[in-house]
Formats: sequence, structure tokens, C-alpha cells
Amino acid sequence: MSSQVNKSVVFNIDVSMQDGKRQFKIACKPGEERYLLIKLQDKLKQDKSLLNYKSVRVYKQGSNKPCYTLSPKFLTAPLTISVIGTGYVGLITGVGLCHRGRRVICMDIDKEKVARINRREAPIYEEGLQEMLISLPEEYFSCTTDLKHAIMNSDATFIAVGTPPKESGEQDLSYIKQAARDIGNVLKHKKGHLVVVKSTVVPGTTQKVIKKLIAESAGHSDFRIAMVPEFLREGLALQDFLNPFRIVVGVECDEDFDAIKFIYKEFKTIFFKTTIPTAEMIKYTSNAILATKISFANEIGNLCKGLGVDVYEVMDAVGLDKRISRKHLNAGRGFGGSCLPKDVKALIHLGKRIKVPTPLLSAVWEVNETQPLRLVELAEKRVGLLKGKSVAVLGLAFKPGTDDIRESPAIIVIRELLRRGAEVLAYDPIAIDNMARVFPKIKYFKDPKEAIAQADVVIGVTEWPELKNEELYKDKVLIDGMKFLEKKTGKNYEGICW
Ligand code: UGA
Repeated sequence: MSSQVNKSVVFNIDVSMQDGKRQFKIACKPGEERYLLIKLQDKLKQDKSLLNYKSVRVYKQGSNKPCYTLSPKFLTAPLTISVIGTGYVGLITGVGLCHRGRRVICMDIDKEKVARINRREAPIYEEGLQEMLISLPEEYFSCTTDLKHAIMNSDATFIAVGTPPKESGEQDLSYIKQAARDIGNVLKHKKGHLVVVKSTVVPGTTQKVIKKLIAESAGHSDFRIAMVPEFLREGLALQDFLNPFRIVVGVECDEDFDAIKFIYKEFKTIFFKTTIPTAEMIKYTSNAILATKISFANEIGNLCKGLGVDVYEVMDAVGLDKRISRKHLNAGRGFGGSCLPKDVKALIHLGKRIKVPTPLLSAVWEVNETQPLRLVELAEKRVGLLKGKSVAVLGLAFKPGTDDIRESPAIIVIRELLRRGAEVLAYDPIAIDNMARVFPKIKYFKDPKEAIAQADVVIGVTEWPELKNEELYKDKVLIDGMKFLEKKTGKNYEGICW
């Protein structure tokens, strides 16, 4: 590497004081320019001679256009963020915020996971995550099991713990309630802290449950609360986090909106300011409409199949209408994952609780529950009773690009195959370990060719790119659940909705 590459980047700082100007420089190691604001805030807090400054201008050396102009409010701007929970949302939020120049302390109760993250080993598979984790300097990114340390050393705390569904569809708030009590305990010793809820919670929960529990444990109400829902998709999590369509900010006052906008200062997007319950509802509505689009596409797809029409071609044309858009109109075996199913169920449950009928959402759910079973029915139609037959199930994750199998349509398919007495030969490039915990006894294959070779019939559930290859299937019957192949390829091919 040339010395040019290793050269520090220098910034000239002009501070306007009541009685004139002060100037100094800040040098950042290559790659650490993004932490300039933290270095500057630290310097302004430490140097007593800079107290009561009027404004600060920051110039990159060689430029006479300021890259930042900062008011005295900058002294208290939140630059160090703690994130409670290192699941998908928590870890991506922590890593993403640090990549965008914030100091981040992640916190989780799982010691082993914390140790892995500190060793810079990503505990989940997500494109680009491992590389980004490695690139974060220790000084700016750490993970701990010590909640007190995380809160006392940060300006704002994001809550990103799970809110899984109970059997009834109602949200299980036990983790988030515990987090709220624990945060409150620490806030006994701290005033004015900003708590930001990122977990998906039913409208009303942030203010009526979380805020209340924090205040009870803290013994005071001198803290601030906000709700900033997350819209990232698994498999594209970092990309979505770093380039959001919008950032929805649910707050109780303008000051908190400004603080959150500062946390996301380096994100070029629209900031949508609203109340906390509205922010909570926006998150549910987004996921519910995505789920509705998919179930709608599936219902139309089932009709198309009966008519001998390809629903993908239909949706390609329909989606050209910008009011509709082509996104989330891919028909197939239905939606899975930890979000769309959970959020649709939670809204249905909410409707029952507040006595507002939700027939549309119930239908969305119903279509989705039966859709994966169509794959098994089509397979049986093709090769006869499945009892004693070997069926290859290709793609176990709930979608490509992730090892997550939560609510995966593959689970419904495998369960039904086993119920009908078939032998299951399962393949996935990265989700086998997770699926083996649900179905320890079925056969797993690291190479799809081997599973296909031993199968009487092949069911395609999740469209990993390596499975989108006509050559793999040759003379086997393929029941295609998610457009593995672009075109119908002869008499051995059967699409679920085309
Ligand atoms: C979803 C939303 O898309 C995110 O905006 C949201 O932040 C996230 O939930 C969440 O609440 O955390 P995700 O569950 O990662 O993201 O996945 P999607 O890409 O929406 O796919 C969900 C399921 O629908 C998958 O099983 C996928 O295969 C299926 N799908 C998706 C279809 O069947 N057809 C489509 O056209 C699109």
C-alpha cells in the first residue's frame, strides 16, 4: 500500500466564541473520518476554554466549503447509542449506525453471542454483515451483557428485542416488558435519557406499557420516549437499513424528533414525523399491505392456473401501473418469515380485542395457510399417492439470502409430506442446521443434485439462484413453488400458479 493511502484525513475546525475565534485540527486515520463528529464532540466537552461557543464550522483540509456547521446544541447531540437485543433488527441497527459514524454499544443477555460479536463473528447470515462487522473499530463498536454499562455510557438506547407471537396471534410482550423494567432500574441513576423503541409493537404499547414500566422502575419520568419502526428485509438487511425509503419517527415533542434526526444525520432520506401510536400503526400497515399483495397475487395465480394463464406475465403488466407497482406480487407458495405472518396475526387479534372486524386480513391469512399445501397436492396428482415415495424439497429458508426458517412455507410442506407418509429429501445452501432442529429425522443434502437424483418428485419451495437451473431437473417432475424456472419446460414441469 502506498503511503498516500495510509495518510490521515485532516479537518480544520473554526470555533466562533463570544470574544473571537479559536481554531484547531482533528486528524482521522483512514476509514475513521466517519467518526469525526464524535472526536469533535469529545474535544468540545473536554476543553473548558471552548465552553459557551457560538458556532463551529468544520472544513475538510483543502476545502473552503464547510462540511458541518454546528450550533451549541451539538454538545448534547446523541452520538453514542446503545442497542438492546442483537437479533436481526438490533444487530443490523447497531452495525449500520456505527458504519454511519455513531459510537455503538450493543447489549444482549446471551453471553456466547456477545462474545462472538466482540470477536467480530456475525451470529446470523446476512449479506455484507460479516465484512462490515470486521471493519468497525473497537473504540466505536462493542457488545456487552452489562445493561448498566450500555445505558450509562450512551446518549440514547434503542430497544430491539423480539416480540414473537403467542399461539393466539397476540404479541408476547414478555421480553420487551423485561427490557423496560431493566432500563428503568438503570435510569434510577440517570435523567433525560432518550429511549427509542424499534421492536414492532401493537399501537399503544410504547406509551401505555413500555413508558409506564420504565417510569415505575426508575421512580421518575425524567426520560424521553420515541418509536422508530424498522422496515428492513432479511437477506437485504444492511442495504435496506442504510438506504431506507423513509425513516418514520414517532415522538412526543419536537426536541426528540431533532435528536433522532441527528442520530440518522448521515442517512439521505425522508424523515416522517408523527405521534408514537401512529408510528406503531405505520409499521403494521406496511407489513399487512405487503402480505395482502402476496395473498392477492396467489389467489389470482390460482385462478390463472385454472385458466392456463401465467400469473407472472399478468402481474408484469399490471405492475406497470405505478399506483399498483410490481413489487410483492410474485405468486407462489405464500409468505413466511418472522414478520409478515406475525404482524397479520397480531392485527387480526387486535381487531378482536377492540371489536373491529378484519375480514380482509383473515382472508389474507387463510390464503397463505393453504397455499403451500397446493404444492403437495400437485405432486400427488403427478406421481400418485405419496406414501412411501421420496420427495425432494428444495429451499428451506423462508426466502433466498437468509438462513432463517421461521414460519417458512417449507415447514408446512414437509409436515404435510410426512403426514402423507412420504420420505423427505431436503436441500438448502445455508438453512439446513436450522431446519434440522425442527425436523431432525428427515434426510438433508448439501448438494441439490443428490437429493434430486434420489427423488420420485421434486418440490421447489424457495428460489435460491443455484436452483434456477433447468439442467438440474432433466427428466424429474418438478413442482415449482416460486418460479425456479422462467418458462414451462415440457411435460415434467408444473408451476403452482402458472
Ligand atoms: C418484511 C418486509 O418486507 C420488511 O419491510 C419488514 O421490515 C420486515 O418484514 C419486518 O417486519 O421486519 P421480510 O420478512 O424480510 O421483510 O421478507 P419479504 O421480502 O417481505 O418476504 C416475506 C415472504 O414473502 C417471503 O417468504 C417471500 O418469499 C414471500 N414473498 C415476497 C412472496 O411470496 N412474493 C413476493 O412477491 C414477495
